[in-house]
Amino acid sequence: MCGIVGAVAERNITTILIEGLKRLEYRGYDSAGLAVFTQQGHLERRRRIGKVSELEAAVAAEPLVGNLGIAHTRWATHGAPTEGNAHPHFSGHDLAVVHNGIIENHDVLREQLKGLGYVFTSQTDTEVIVHLLHHTLKSLPDLADALKATVKQLHGAYGLAVISASQPDRLLAARSGSPLVIGLGHGENFLASDQLALRQVTDRFMYLEEGDIAEIRRDQITIWAVDGQPVQREAVQYHEGAEAADKGHYRHFMLKEIHEQPTVVQRTLEDRLGSDHVLVQAFGPKAAELFPKVRNVQIVACGTSYHAGMVARYWLEELAGIPCQVEVASEFRYRKVVVQPDTLFVSISQSGETADTLAALRNAKELGFLASLAICNVGISSLVRESDLTLLTRAGPEIGVASTKAFTTQLVSLMLLTLSLGRVRGTLPAGVEAELVEQLRRLPVRLGEALAMDATIEKTSELFADKHHTLFLGRGAQFPVAMEGALKLKEISYIHAEAYPAGELKHGPLALVDADMPVVTVAPNNELLEKLKSNLQEVRARGGELIVFADEKAGMSNGEGTHVIAMPHIIDALAPILYTIPLQLLSYYVAVLKGTDVDQPRNLAKSVTVE
Ligand code: F6R
Repeated sequence: MCGIVGAVAERNITTILIEGLKRLEYRGYDSAGLAVFTQQGHLERRRRIGKVSELEAAVAAEPLVGNLGIAHTRWATHGAPTEGNAHPHFSGHDLAVVHNGIIENHDVLREQLKGLGYVFTSQTDTEVIVHLLHHTLKSLPDLADALKATVKQLHGAYGLAVISASQPDRLLAARSGSPLVIGLGHGENFLASDQLALRQVTDRFMYLEEGDIAEIRRDQITIWAVDGQPVQREAVQYHEGAEAADKGHYRHFMLKEIHEQPTVVQRTLEDRLGSDHVLVQAFGPKAAELFPKVRNVQIVACGTSYHAGMVARYWLEELAGIPCQVEVASEFRYRKVVVQPDTLFVSISQSGETADTLAALRNAKELGFLASLAICNVGISSLVRESDLTLLTRAGPEIGVASTKAFTTQLVSLMLLTLSLGRVRGTLPAGVEAELVEQLRRLPVRLGEALAMDATIEKTSELFADKHHTLFLGRGAQFPVAMEGALKLKEISYIHAEAYPAGELKHGPLALVDADMPVVTVAPNNELLEKLKSNLQEVRARGGELIVFADEKAGMSNGEGTHVIAMPHIIDALAPILYTIPLQLLSYYVAVLKGTDVDQPRNLAKSVTVE
């Protein structure tokens, strides 16, 4: 989604802005631009559709040198991805704004501003902001005062960065519904929508809170809270390795992140396991008091995170005996929901900024849930800040747009939740928790074994090179794993993929099966195996080609049109985590074969902060 970078310094800031934008590329965007207060004493901008490298080339061709500037990567919401719609937007020659988010009342404001004589050059909602600010400056000449008055008229979500040629010693920022962070330097300061953009220049950050307005000068930061009063925000040191934004020796971030899974799963388990049980305190100080009261769980999430929630439903009901509902956030937020007494609301999100998930949480607060728990990868995200309880997934920054390590760490976290709730409520059968805790400790090694199948799966990917459609099948908790496998394949290889519970095959989708439709199946060695084998016969009888990821003990072997890939044996409850790995690798290698942009698939954004 959109990204913001800003800088005020003594040195030339153009390269800092461009490097910052490059670090935000992983979020997905369709155009990029920057505006700099130049040594000649005026604002100049460059904008390009396409990659940041195009913008960089434009700046190299016509250099911009200055000490104050703002930059942006845009993901089109209002108006097509054109150079004219790319940010920064100007009002006159001396005021520039970049904006993340959506202004809902932009139509009304646009008409008012047109009435005042403003001429619009783009279709964006952002241009409304810059003209409104320009108009406000006529009565409130101080930029900070004018910005405070301007944002009061905006409905919707925004992260804003503003510079003015007539007040060139400062960079202004405003946050409401879209994250912003100030990077603290020595005699220079920075702004970004994600700290990752600024790791090249600092490791000290100050996070703006909802409603904050900030004035950033080279040697001074002033912040006003939503009530207009000056506030101090804590400066924090960032400890995550700077190398996280590097591909290392991997060809793509996605492959690197797939291979990081043993490490990040290990990290997600650290300090959360006692000798034979899960430490409930891992969920926060209020968990020990709240968990015994939980009689129901409502999970809400989007995309991959939703699939993690679907797996958790099987776990919560089967292992902990707790009723669980799972729903995509975009549906939940607009539905009349009837809340059962003592229901724990659980949101799952890698970014913690997904607009639908955040809105669902905010709705949930009005609906009388017992408490809210965020399972999230970003500790300073809105979702975490607004939830009663949190379990961080510790996957580290996920750069590839297709979620991989975030999913498996979400699953591990949800297993911790299942075991914690089951124990405090006394619904977990004896010995189950100790056994699963032991198996969780071994999980990183098992994931390593699955990753060692890399070369086999790369070979298998050739079966998909000329295919246009695929089916993914699973039963029980492997059904959501099949859904996740299908999502990965479609989003990065653009091959149409659908997932079905294997038992549903004969109720319709079997009609699609022929030699051109590979059918991918996950087949751990559990009580549903025999039923699954019959489903696979149904496929073979129609000439369908089968790719089966089967437990080494499942007694399945290669045959005509059947490719069996043996998986290391694992306890059934943890099989969804292990079987995810080969499906991620399969999608990855098919996408590489197809030559797609693996880390930034078309039309997709990493963090979906608009509805
Ligand atoms: C798919 C993918 C998306 C996200 C979804 C939710 O690979 O990454 O489906 O899972 O947009 O994002 P988060 O987890 O950040 O709320």
